[in-house]
Amino acid sequence: MAPRLEFRNVTKRFPNKLNGAAKLDGADPFITAVRGVNFRVSDGEVVSLIGPSGCGKSTLLNMGSGLDRPSDGEVFVDGERVEKPNPHVAFMLQKDLLLPWRTIRENVEFGLEIQGIAADERRVRSDELLRKCRLTDFAGHYPHQLSGGMRQRAALARTLAVNPTVLLMDEPFSALDAQTKMILQQDLGRTLKETGKTALFITHDLVEAIALSDRVLVMSERPGQIVEELTVDLPGRGDPMTRRQHSGMGQFVPKLMSLLHLSDMTH
Ligand SMILES: Nc1ncnc2c1ncn2[C@@H]1O[C@H](COP(=O)(O)OP(=O)(O)OP(=O)(O)O)[C@@H](O)[C@H]1O
Ligand SMILES: [Mg+2]
Repeated sequence: MAPRLEFRNVTKRFPNKLNGAAKLDGADPFITAVRGVNFRVSDGEVVSLIGPSGCGKSTLLNMGSGLDRPSDGEVFVDGERVEKPNPHVAFMLQKDLLLPWRTIRENVEFGLEIQGIAADERRVRSDELLRKCRLTDFAGHYPHQLSGGMRQRAALARTLAVNPTVLLMDEPFSALDAQTKMILQQDLGRTLKETGKTALFITHDLVEAIALSDRVLVMSERPGQIVEELTVDLPGRGDPMTRRQHSGMGQFVPKLMSLLHLSDMTH
């Protein structure tokens, strides 16, 4: 069976906005964000991507979503080359991108409207998701009337609303307070497991990566490459709260810190 998501030898270069002196100097007119990235995510698997700021994580996710194209190499979803956004792939960007002229409920229902789902069915689904994300009291508010964490929760509700096969999530919980984060991690972990969804998940939170994933991919500094892959062979992928308390949890954080060269900073 084809993997749900596959990156095959993917390189992405961006034009380097050089000032006059650098131009005359013959500096590289391109920035290579990621180089030669290969990985696969199988059906029902949850994979986290970690790496230093600027190493190209969001760039990879944008190519997975079809919002951006590789300079070299290819991205596939279900064996088909990604060339534009795919209705079975939901993505949540690092910037929440809620539509400012729509209420929170209307934002959550946006993808369902596009899919042509009837109003009463949309209402049932948005009610449930707003409740799960603890936004029921703010359904009629506009994004600017919410805190950063609440907007993040609304964006999560919107992503889950379309019932996608593949979820691409860019730091979905980074703006949340520690407790809300754990509650939503639990919710997401359980939902992913119960519905057998496939996910690629970007985070800077190492414990979060371990708590939610089957595998963690570690990237190098830019140009980002995958330098290590760690299989999280702990029980409870659908129950992150319990997994956090597992005695085996302790060994993974230092391992990831060392792969990210964070442990070098102590001396
Ligand atoms: N649209 C763009 N135009 C030019 N350069 C870009 C563009 N998008 C990203 N880059 C560059 O590509 C590199 C990777 O950026 P990216 O946003 O993918 O990093 P990241 O790993 O997601 O970082 P962070 O952890 O801070 O979110 C950076 O050097 C960035 O400046
Ligand atoms: Mg990013």
